[in-house]
Amino acid sequence: MFTFTNPRHQMSCELKREYHVNFTDGILESTSSLLTQTVRHNRVLVITTPTVYKHYGERFVRLAQEQGLDLVFEVLSLTEQTKTFESVEKICEWSQHYNLGRSDILIAFGGGVCSDAVSVAASLIRRGIRHIRIPTTLIGQIDAAIGLKGGINFRNHKNYLGCFYPPSDVFIDPGFLGTLNRESLSHGFAEIVKMALVCDAELFDKLQCHGSSLLNSSFTQPADAASHVIERAVQLMLKELRENPYENITSERLVDMGHTFSPYLEAASKFSIQHGEAVAIDMALTSLISVELGLLQERDAHTIINLLSNLGLPIWSPLMTSELCSFSIKEAALHRRGNLNLIVLEGIGRPRFIKSAGEVEGGVLDRALAKLAVHGERMMQGPEISRNCVDWMKDTG
Ligand SMILES: NC(=O)c1ccc[n+]([C@@H]2O[C@H](COP(=O)([O-])OP(=O)(O)OC[C@H]3O[C@@H](n4cnc5c(N)ncnc54)[C@H](O)[C@@H]3O)[C@@H](O)[C@H]2O)c1
Repeated sequence: MFTFTNPRHQMSCELKREYHVNFTDGILESTSSLLTQTVRHNRVLVITTPTVYKHYGERFVRLAQEQGLDLVFEVLSLTEQTKTFESVEKICEWSQHYNLGRSDILIAFGGGVCSDAVSVAASLIRRGIRHIRIPTTLIGQIDAAIGLKGGINFRNHKNYLGCFYPPSDVFIDPGFLGTLNRESLSHGFAEIVKMALVCDAELFDKLQCHGSSLLNSSFTQPADAASHVIERAVQLMLKELRENPYENITSERLVDMGHTFSPYLEAASKFSIQHGEAVAIDMALTSLISVELGLLQERDAHTIINLLSNLGLPIWSPLMTSELCSFSIKEAALHRRGNLNLIVLEGIGRPRFIKSAGEVEGGVLDRALAKLAVHGERMMQGPEISRNCVDWMKDTG
């Protein structure tokens, strides 16, 4: 028989973490000392993907040589299909091979998939080593790389495994977007539209006005809009993250707009529908659900759908069935500690949370899906040009 003087002991283990999201122009230029200042004398393992290596590998290696960095590169094909344990294991193997110590550094140099997988690996190696993210896609720069999360897909379940593991630094250099294809840029726009819809009507107007030219010019023209849009999207995202960094303060997260149905749509398509595309379809549906709930004017939903379409994004998929949406609703509630917390809109920039699945399932959802299919057909006949742009220009001079 055991006897204890006190059977219950408390331990607190708070860990306060801070990191910087830095904007820069030309991080790989020989005149830039940002990287050197950040990694100092530590050993660095850069993980990148074949396309990014093809465009920037040589320049990166040259910079490392010029500045005397102890840096090695490994190239891994990281796609949504290979965002798995096996890829994380490969990164861990390289880390072991190069004998990375606890103060050494992993760099994720690539898109959101690279950043997600490297973050998971960094959280595991020696129970956590430093990692830096240098995102090279628009999604990476305004979303995936600036938050705390890493994640991998597991048994066809999107981001089922993962961690909250902040980077030590993030470097955002929009110059990398110059080699990004149009589709990837569009995908990034979906996340910017999301932030505009939930908290910044002015950003939405700016996207209506300049989104197409930014898309057509690889995010360079008009230059002031390019800097403003990217900086504003990052600011808004960081503000949301700051209030609930570990997602344990509330399950009402504005950044979940467009992320209720989309993970299951991506998985149902076996990831042939890309993340940004699925988010766009989800936002189009959510706008129509908002209309059906009597919260949003039909005209506003139409404007949102047109903007998505003008930004090269799909707004409908035949996989978006009533069954898939009902399944998503149940899974979302599991993920959000029992409440659906679907973000609907009362206007552009005016979000509202729907707590209970009962409010949307059945009639509302089916009517919204039927309308979405009609919009989908209309968009197949060609997107409409944004009308608000001219008004916005008048308003702002
Ligand atoms: N952790 C988070 O908080 C978070 C947030 C949003 C998204 N994500 C994740 O991010 C992923 C999507 O990220 P993504 O859209 O960046 O996709 P991605 O990482 O697959 O990159 C898209 C494609 O662009 C190529 N590429 C990358 N940079 C390039 C460049 N500068 N020039 C030319 N080609 C380039 C890549 O090789 C890839 O083929 C999803 O897995 C999603 O779950 C995570």
